Amino acid sequence: MIKGCQNECTAGGCSGETGKHTADSFKASDLIITPATTFKEKPDPSGLVFGTVFTDNMLTIEWSLASGWEKPYIKPLENLSLHPASSSLHYALELFEGMKAYRGVDGKIRLFRPTLNMERMARSAKRVTLPHFDQNELLECIRKLVEVEKEWVPYSTTASLYIRPTLIGTEPSLGVKTPTKALLYVILSPVGPYFASGSFNPISLWADPKYVRAWKGGTGDCKLGVNYGSSVYAQQEALELGCQQVLWLYGEDHQITEVGTMNLFLYWINEDGENELTTPPLDGIILPGVTRQSILDLACSWGEFKVSERYITMSDLTAALEEDRVKEMFGAGTACVVCPISKILYKGKHLHIPTMENGPQLTTRFLNKLSDIQLDESCKILFLPLKYISVF
Ligand SMILES: Cc1ncc(COP(=O)(O)O)c(C=O)c1O
Repeated sequence: MIKGCQNECTAGGCSGETGKHTADSFKASDLIITPATTFKEKPDPSGLVFGTVFTDNMLTIEWSLASGWEKPYIKPLENLSLHPASSSLHYALELFEGMKAYRGVDGKIRLFRPTLNMERMARSAKRVTLPHFDQNELLECIRKLVEVEKEWVPYSTTASLYIRPTLIGTEPSLGVKTPTKALLYVILSPVGPYFASGSFNPISLWADPKYVRAWKGGTGDCKLGVNYGSSVYAQQEALELGCQQVLWLYGEDHQITEVGTMNLFLYWINEDGENELTTPPLDGIILPGVTRQSILDLACSWGEFKVSERYITMSDLTAALEEDRVKEMFGAGTACVVCPISKILYKGKHLHIPTMENGPQLTTRFLNKLSDIQLDESCKILFLPLKYISVF
């Protein structure tokens, strides 16, 4: 709220003008739906390249400081018309989310713990001073969009419909400041199986502290475009060195933080001889992944081994490898659910991670359990009593 403003609104949309209230949030009940009347051909999901094919419609909602949120629209997918000075283009005042709609074995379409994505999106918006919104209203608008596009959700248990909510500053001004105009939009893209062969393909990582993904006080715990654009250079170097992804290190002691665009898990026998599943804590440099949280929740509910969020350094890992204490290491994220790690190139040496030799038992168990929950409602009762699936 603007200092001294007499209005009682607390939204970022407060104009400060006495007697004038702007919309705190758009409402799903105001949706204006004018869907496409011509339809693109739906591709075979097995041949899809991630994020290259889009559905027929999109959701758009405009915001301005003067008028607050406008009505939401579901309309044919189209190019955006932006002023060339838009703050998202110059200063990365931009954020996004990534989630999926799955067609279950019963034919119903479900979203997996979408409220966690909405919460993360709201946190990201706050971090880049983009306007806030009612998370439930956005989720309902997204649910409606997926309903309109339901034929685009692949009839497959290995493919899904990727949902990309995006919020961008559209202020036509070169000043570095809080935007007075923004656009929230959601586009949908069918995606194929991550592991095309149906079995795991383990990945190799490049770990070098010369590039840092995130730092204390920075934006690594939010899903902002700026974090990703700056990571591509390191990813390219990893590929040149024959590795598939970057293992992001942090600090003098080379803490292990994340892998590519995934959270990282280590299943090992710890220094005290206990079986432990561990992942770095959410200390500001780790993205709080929905998959990460789900793996922690599942593992805690099993109660079969120690589950912890703790710092792991490269020297902890190399010592454990020498002492044969590492069982499995994997990345976790919406794209692949879990992704086994088999090699790390660090200080010129290839460290072999025995994930595949160990089954990978735990990695496979998480993949199967989470896929079951995403695809089969009856498995929900095996999980925690969380409200994490919206049924259409
Ligand atoms: C940096 C980073 N870490 C972790 C994740 C995994 O998050 P989620 O499980 O919510 O997909 C992502 C997802 O895109 C990411 O970009």
